[in-house]
Amino acid sequence: VNHLLGIKYLTAKDIDLIFKTADHFKEVINRPIKKVPSLRDITIANLFFENSTRTRLSFELAEKRLSADIINFSAGSSSVSKGETLIDTVNNILAMKVDMVVMRHPNPGAGIFLSKNVRASIINAGDGTHEHPTQALLDSYSIREKLGEVKGKKIVIVGDILHSRVALSNIFALKLQGAEVKVCGPKTLIPKYIQSLGVGVETNLIKALEWCDVANMLRVQNERMEISYFPSTREYTQQFGLNKEILNSLNKEIVVMHPGPINRGVEITSDVADSKQAIILDQVQNGVAIRMAVIYLLASKIKP
Ligand code: CP
Repeated sequence: VNHLLGIKYLTAKDIDLIFKTADHFKEVINRPIKKVPSLRDITIANLFFENSTRTRLSFELAEKRLSADIINFSAGSSSVSKGETLIDTVNNILAMKVDMVVMRHPNPGAGIFLSKNVRASIINAGDGTHEHPTQALLDSYSIREKLGEVKGKKIVIVGDILHSRVALSNIFALKLQGAEVKVCGPKTLIPKYIQSLGVGVETNLIKALEWCDVANMLRVQNERMEISYFPSTREYTQQFGLNKEILNSLNKEIVVMHPGPINRGVEITSDVADSKQAIILDQVQNGVAIRMAVIYLLASKIKP
């Protein structure tokens, strides 16, 4: 397979290979010269049809560290606004001899659709409410780094599970690696099918935190809601927000994660986000090595 469209399509062995490759690149990017010449013959287009800070910059940096040639595209400043289709847009970019496409898109399945209609290797950088595979990989990699392994660890994903591609990709990745997973949030933001994925449901935040080794705190994705699912932000924070008082009251020291962007004071307070129990910036740092690994492994299949 020449694509990374979702964790759903990976095996535990694939994830292990990505992590071992990322271990190597993490060592590389800590050297005084952070670059390797591996992908001098590869051209990558970064297509962002939806806003991003971490994912876009992390992919761009990963590609530069691998010495690939890159072009960047933002839908807002493109001819998409004149009515050009996704397939036409990408085929025109590919006509410039591009080998690989990294794409973020608001529509679930956009990467899968593209992979069936254009001749290039596709990496999904987040497709609507569907999957965000590199985020889940960097999240698991960060747990492995902090706790030694993912297998057997208890992870709770807290928040807006219904609209979160991060939640779904994390569930697939964590289950593949043998972690125990629960989700926690308002009933209205937990999809009915979640238990069929082998995931527990807990609607009491304290109980969920007492159970877990790691809490991954998600943002409520108001931009993906057509109607208001939960009474108010204030009520969400009261029931599902993580603050220092709650963290300190737990029986053990848990690891706190967040994929970003954070709504400080809503799902997590600043004193928790900036505490030594939080590995939020480690996640961001690991994102570069993980994306280098994914690009490198896919490129090794498309190189002449
Ligand atoms: N975590 C994440 O996907 O962040 P961005 O939306 O800033 O890329």
